[in-house]
Amino acid sequence: MKYHKLVENAGRPQGFWGKMMIKSMNKGHSELTDWALVHLEIKRNYNALDIGCGGGKTVSKLCKRIGNGKVFGIDYSELCVEKSKKLNKNNIMCGKASILQSSVSSLPFEDNKFDVITAVETYYFWPDKLNDLKEVYRVLKSGGKLLLVFEMVKSEEEPHKWDKVEKSLGIEAVSKDGIADILLHAGYQNIRTYSKSSTGWLCVTAEKE
Ligand SMILES: C[S@@+](CC[C@H](N)C(=O)[O-])C[C@H]1O[C@@H](n2cnc3c(N)ncnc32)[C@H](O)[C@@H]1O
Repeated sequence: MKYHKLVENAGRPQGFWGKMMIKSMNKGHSELTDWALVHLEIKRNYNALDIGCGGGKTVSKLCKRIGNGKVFGIDYSELCVEKSKKLNKNNIMCGKASILQSSVSSLPFEDNKFDVITAVETYYFWPDKLNDLKEVYRVLKSGGKLLLVFEMVKSEEEPHKWDKVEKSLGIEAVSKDGIADILLHAGYQNIRTYSKSSTGWLCVTAEKE
């Protein structure tokens, strides 16, 4: 029952179980995020965006690496926006971070704004993946990089690992080739995939020309 209620709230946290899920994601995705961020160069003056920011932990990690730049977080869940703002209170107060409620499908930013964009464990939930990736591309600067991070990865060794989660949430685990292919179709270049074999984690970087 508890597991079920938690998992139900992964895609758009709300209410009591949403709060529990946010707490659990901030903790549970921290190591995965640290591993993935190693693959992204982040300069101190960069403009960064974290999509599907959940409880705001990735925004806070980005703020630590960015000096006089700025970090935005967006999420379409009202509760996530509230929790991200709470976690990043000091970063918001000093003007380093901003958290906005928005869908990935229609980002509230001008073209060519961000040097780096991160999206941790959120892609599976995006409603129109090809167009959503194109929307992300629109707000990336030329030469800017997107980092997609995944725990739910299909593999030949464990083909049924994610069956239960896929079924209960109506989402699909990703494959390395599938992600590289859709990024290419969305217009990205220099697509690189990185796997952590002991965990099955995958992260992908892709560039706007
Ligand atoms: C599994 S949680 C991951 C949260 C956070 N990135 C982390 O690693 O802890 C997925 C997040 O993506 C957000 N999300 C899902 N679909 C979205 C969409 N279409 N637009 C914006 N945010 C979305 C959810 O509200 C949720 O906060």
